[in-house]
Amino acid sequence: MKTQLNRRDWFKSTLALTAGIALTSSLTKELMAAPMSQAERSFFGLKTSDAQKVRLNSNENPYGPSEKAKKAVMESLSRGNRYAFNELEELKKIIAAKEGVNPSYILLGAGSGELLVQTGIAYGLEGGRVLSAYPTFPLLMNYAQQMKAAWDKVDLNEKLEHNYEALASAIKSDTRLVFSCNPNNPTGTVVSDSIVRGFCEEASKKTLVYADEAYLEFLDPSQQKSMVSLVQNNPNVVVSKTFSKIYGLAGLRIGYLVGQPDTLKKIAQYGDTISPSQTALAAAKASIGDEDFMKLTREKNSVARKVLTDYLDQKKIFYGKSLTNVVLFPAPKDGKKILSQLDEKGFLIRIWDYQGKEWCRVSIGTQDEMKNFVRAFDEVVA
Ligand SMILES: Cc1ncc(COP(=O)(O)O)c(C=O)c1O
Repeated sequence: MKTQLNRRDWFKSTLALTAGIALTSSLTKELMAAPMSQAERSFFGLKTSDAQKVRLNSNENPYGPSEKAKKAVMESLSRGNRYAFNELEELKKIIAAKEGVNPSYILLGAGSGELLVQTGIAYGLEGGRVLSAYPTFPLLMNYAQQMKAAWDKVDLNEKLEHNYEALASAIKSDTRLVFSCNPNNPTGTVVSDSIVRGFCEEASKKTLVYADEAYLEFLDPSQQKSMVSLVQNNPNVVVSKTFSKIYGLAGLRIGYLVGQPDTLKKIAQYGDTISPSQTALAAAKASIGDEDFMKLTREKNSVARKVLTDYLDQKKIFYGKSLTNVVLFPAPKDGKKILSQLDEKGFLIRIWDYQGKEWCRVSIGTQDEMKNFVRAFDEVVA
């Protein structure tokens, strides 16, 4: 009965969506990996086509998809007339083996964004509250708010890292879910796995913990400590991963959630049972565990990121210590002017609002793109 009522509420909200309100455009903006700042709201109204611009605004991987993934996509096209029932089960088994769990612990989605949306709906419908650090990737919390829940935000610490102690203290009796993003977007900062693990263990005694690990593979393999190992004995922890970042498949849309079957069932009821597509499944199957491609991305990204951080060091501009493909730093001048002047020079970045200030969020492109960006940015803020 409770589920039925929940579903009814959900359909009501869906009606609001189709009426053109809030969510669809919010999903598009969120998948650019940030909420809209004041500067962006006024700037987007004026701007022209983005087709030829250097995209340092969506934390994409400029080196993907791998050759193996492209070949697999081409081969998958001949199965395009068939629903991907078998391929879905096959990929679940491959992912489950990699993650050390049973295939029933894997839920696939058209990007991890789809899973964040479903989780936001499933838990938001219960009312109560959802909790996260801020700024972080807001998609789940936005959907939870669009249902019924309130969103409690805890500021990052002065190094722009998640403050797990403060997050733990902010859990209330009606907190339904805590979102933990390590590494975080928009900062690229990373908190040590022992702290995150301790937090997940304690917090999950009170509420569901959603651990987002979209950028974990940007870390050196020896440092990639996933929270998946908690899932086996804990129905209150779920972990999401994506093929959009290190594997460079953002446009193909595929990601997954690891969790206990009953927890996944609650989330899955708000999604399609045969998502993602044949092409995405084929690309993911060809990409998963491709150490050579991950290493290439990791190495090139870190060289290109250094171009930006060297510039910021030279200009004595503070930034969060990023280990991923995104860097956040305070905007040296008016955000709208930065956006429009960079746009004229052919570069797209994001501006975030946080603590009454504007911040530049720059995704890492190729080394050449970053050299050109730094030159253009320097002229813009001169
Ligand atoms: C932290 C984080 N999680 C999840 C996503 C969603 O990515 P996708 O839907 O492409 O898997 C993003 C996108 O930028 C992100 O930054």
